[in-house]
Amino acid sequence: MKGVILAGRLGTRLYPLTHVTNKHLLPVYDKPMIFYPIKTLVDAGITEVLIVTSGPHVGHFLGVIKNGKELGLTHVEYAYQQKPNGGIADALALAKDFADSEPITVILGDNTTDANIKKAVSSFKDGATVFLREVPDPKRFGVAVFDQKDKSKVIRFDEKPKKPESNMAVTGLYIYDSMVFDYINKCDPNYIGRGELEITQVNNFYIEAGKMTWQELNGFWSDAGTIETLFLASSHWASKDKEK
Ligand code: DAU
Repeated sequence: MKGVILAGRLGTRLYPLTHVTNKHLLPVYDKPMIFYPIKTLVDAGITEVLIVTSGPHVGHFLGVIKNGKELGLTHVEYAYQQKPNGGIADALALAKDFADSEPITVILGDNTTDANIKKAVSSFKDGATVFLREVPDPKRFGVAVFDQKDKSKVIRFDEKPKKPESNMAVTGLYIYDSMVFDYINKCDPNYIGRGELEITQVNNFYIEAGKMTWQELNGFWSDAGTIETLFLASSHWASKDKEK
């Protein structure tokens, strides 16, 4: 399977750091942030990757990732998202030709995890798989709403709900079949009123089609998109390094 890393957006929550470079190239402990999602894909056996990015520092990616060989990649492509805040689904739309009608694993460029998703990738057949994780602050995330009777069945995802109906967050790792691009075309930029094509709406289309499955993501997982989470992620990887 091929992989897609979404590394667009201006990273305004990290100003002034993101005046220097793209958020996904900032250091998380001893590596540029994007090395973590690359490693997650490589550990899952995915070595052909498309990186979608945007904003004023796009050229920096080439100097850091180069042809990807040092990071275990066999093929790397780059795509430019015209509207940096077009939404996660808008960024993913650029992967249509790269995916070539085959399933793809998608990871947000600011997510760092030590979970291994190799089994989920190799056993994936069709539909969509998302990885959920219990969090203390669900309001910051896409959140799963479960069936009252069958607690393992997700009936809907809510994006950054004011009153979350569970504390199971949607992490930024997804596996999709090629229907994803049809669903993106049906997305409404006003889905939650912020003018973005929301990946949460795409996931809800899969639920409506009866084609969504989920797994719990084990191990450490954090985004690194705010100064607090950037620090938290760096501290985690630093302490893990000391354990070696
Ligand atoms: O981290 C998990 C969460 O990520 C999910 O629970 C949410 O459902 C999902 O919407 C997303 O929420 P965030 O508020 O964290 O997303 P953010 O806008 O910060 O974007 C996360 C990454 O996605 C960012 O590092 C780069 C990529 N992205 C995002 C947007 C909006 C793009 O490449 N292009 C975009 O237009």
